[in-house]
Amino acid sequence: MAADRLTPADQAREAVVEAALQRLGLDTKTRLLAGQDMWTLPALPEIGLASLVMSDGPIGVRGVHWTADDPSVALPSPTALAATWDPGLARRAGVLLAQEARRKGVHVLLAPTVNLHRSPLGGRHFECYSEDPYLTGAIGTGYVTGVQSGGVGTTVKHFVANDAETDRLTVNNVISERALRELYLAPFETIVAQARPWGVMTAYNSVNGTTMTEHHHLVNEVLRGEWGFDGCNVSDWTAARDTVGAAHGGLDLAMPGPRTVYGPALARAVREGAVPEATVDAAVRRVLRLAARVGALAGAEPAVTEPPAPVDGPELAREIARRSFVLVRNENRVLPLKPHGTVALIGAAARDARVLGGGSATVFPARTVSPLDGLTAALPEGALTYAVGADPATELGVDGRGLTLRAVCRDAAGDIIGTRSAPGGLVQWMGSDLPDGVTHDTLHSVELTGTFTPRESGPHTFGIKGVGAFTLTVDGTTYYDDVQLPAEGDPFAAFFGAPVARAEPGLIAGKPVEISLTHVVRLPEDLAMKVVTFALAHRGPRRDPDELIAEAVEAARHADTAVVVVATTDRVESEGFDRRDLRLPGRQDDLVHAVAAVNPRTVVVVNAGSPVELPWRDEVAAVLLTWFPGQEGGAALADVLTGAHEPGGRLPTTWGALADAPVTQVVPVDGELPYSEDLFIGYSAWERAGRTPAYPFGHGLGYTDWAYESLTTDGTTARVRVRNTGERPGRETVQLYVSPAGPGPGPARPARRLAAFATVEAGPGESAEVTVALPRRAFEIWDETAKTWTCVKGSYDITAARSIGDRGLTAEINV
Ligand code: BGC
Repeated sequence: MAADRLTPADQAREAVVEAALQRLGLDTKTRLLAGQDMWTLPALPEIGLASLVMSDGPIGVRGVHWTADDPSVALPSPTALAATWDPGLARRAGVLLAQEARRKGVHVLLAPTVNLHRSPLGGRHFECYSEDPYLTGAIGTGYVTGVQSGGVGTTVKHFVANDAETDRLTVNNVISERALRELYLAPFETIVAQARPWGVMTAYNSVNGTTMTEHHHLVNEVLRGEWGFDGCNVSDWTAARDTVGAAHGGLDLAMPGPRTVYGPALARAVREGAVPEATVDAAVRRVLRLAARVGALAGAEPAVTEPPAPVDGPELAREIARRSFVLVRNENRVLPLKPHGTVALIGAAARDARVLGGGSATVFPARTVSPLDGLTAALPEGALTYAVGADPATELGVDGRGLTLRAVCRDAAGDIIGTRSAPGGLVQWMGSDLPDGVTHDTLHSVELTGTFTPRESGPHTFGIKGVGAFTLTVDGTTYYDDVQLPAEGDPFAAFFGAPVARAEPGLIAGKPVEISLTHVVRLPEDLAMKVVTFALAHRGPRRDPDELIAEAVEAARHADTAVVVVATTDRVESEGFDRRDLRLPGRQDDLVHAVAAVNPRTVVVVNAGSPVELPWRDEVAAVLLTWFPGQEGGAALADVLTGAHEPGGRLPTTWGALADAPVTQVVPVDGELPYSEDLFIGYSAWERAGRTPAYPFGHGLGYTDWAYESLTTDGTTARVRVRNTGERPGRETVQLYVSPAGPGPGPARPARRLAAFATVEAGPGESAEVTVALPRRAFEIWDETAKTWTCVKGSYDITAARSIGDRGLTAEINV
């Protein structure tokens, strides 16, 4: 910890940490660093250390139970938060998450995810903020500041370059020093400097030949040495592979515990002289500092003594959602809707809300508001009709709809040893989180048992997600009694694999049937992570797709406005795999073409966490991108469609067709993924390739118009005056881009870079002025020879604009 930055409170805390450290023996210290179970560290009562609890992240706080029984407020996806371009709103999101964490006894949130949108195919794209490092750093800073202001730690993740999922545990990303510094490290650097995070999480992948949990250079020299990071470095889950390598590479915590490369193996390495005890002490010191900051070390004053005022979670979720929606097209001002018109609402996701992305970012909200719920509440009676139109689910889903189940645990003799509710048909028990009375030693089988009440009559498909022995019985008939094997080479198949269809009984709407899925649990003795995980998946009767589209077309024909909600599924955007294409699944594109052909006032709501192709975008009147909008998404949608609020979002990432996207590669060859585009990702790459995307970075319309009236700059600040020339009050996101004027000599540089932004509000006819700082970094590059940042002198254009695709106003300066 840099002594010159220590406040008296820090100094007092450090003294307690130091005293506690001195009282610990080697075996206890190394046991602490190994973790205790899936989410916690061991308590050490002898020094007054409570058990530290960590939890995902980033849109809610799941807590230590992976179940709908332990609900959490679900905010919009990180892409949505970034689309607000509002670090202040990100900060408020953080304050709410700290409140949620405290409610659930969580000390450290495993978030935010600040990897970049390098390729639109990245599976966890929805979980990251932007293609732009500056916007990512600004939103991440707001988020971390907010969470930590509530006395809860963060782990900024995944350090670094975990920008795709294919072979994520082993891939070696080959990246130039400049691209690392100017792009991938940049958000981490900003957040460390501006928000002083109490933790980072090191990624699974390697960078330039060294796995990130052992990356001495990037962790010890850059993150800690150059940037002065004084927090704790936790591995991504199971990412630590080598005791000595991780210790030398600056890894503090190897999670999840207790069987990790730390613990007894680390103590042994110290005794054998392979790791100095001082290295272990430094790691323990950082863990104790984290504990002290969050109030888990007796005698140390926590960093926050008074938690912030309570936040209304659902209300904030709704506000962020509507502020994040990006209206990319609004011909003839079809939106907001006319007050007394009729609306045909169309789309499976309009009824069955798709509010969040998949994988470890999953939380279970207590309720979700679908677009159908939201519009039903907002529109006058009789104004709304609904049609499914097309079903995006090409595979079975685990959504629990219609299921009322509990999990019954039995021992090898078949005696019941414990039960737990499992309302959604999902069992995900990690580490010691088992039903009361059950241990891994006694548990032999888990039966999900209860009823299923169909919404429609016809053949229903049930499937099994998981690996191992299963028996599936529906309405007295056993359809499956066998062993389900994992897809080849997928170590996380039980978590992220696709469910397999195993039964197709004919059922009658509204008539409940008995259902039972039994799984014989067999966990290998030496398994690092003890997890019991499987699920019952379901899909309703398939209707003829042409018939569904025809039905929707009829509804659209008779309504003033057609609102079509198109969506991805949790088999498209999730963790553990990348996307193969950017198409909307199922027949959704056909549906939109058909609806647009009969209703010129067709509004398409795109419910996806990351870019999808919109081949019909010029045929429809309006396109509104709503991301994964969180639990209150449908209410926020009604706010925006009716005009109660304007959509506030601007694109944090370029939207375009995959065939046009300049950087797409996510599949390593022989274990390597070269970042051969170097500095040119996102809008820089589109500009360099001379291609025009469907919608450019920064683009987004509100319900009023803006004129950019003046721009003055001295190179350190820029002053911009804009006028609301429309008829309603509005909010504008003023963006400032910096570009070297003319190609000039010197190193290759992107044509333009986002250097600053700010939001302003003004009433109709009013003007507003904003002054923003232009960071020095906007004129600097990383000099690979001198190993330092260097300012490239010369003349620059500063442009104030509504997006990267807008000409706006430009001023020239000399630097
Ligand atoms: C993910 C992390 C997450 C961790 C714990 C990993 O698979 O990459 O982002 O925090 O699991 O759930």
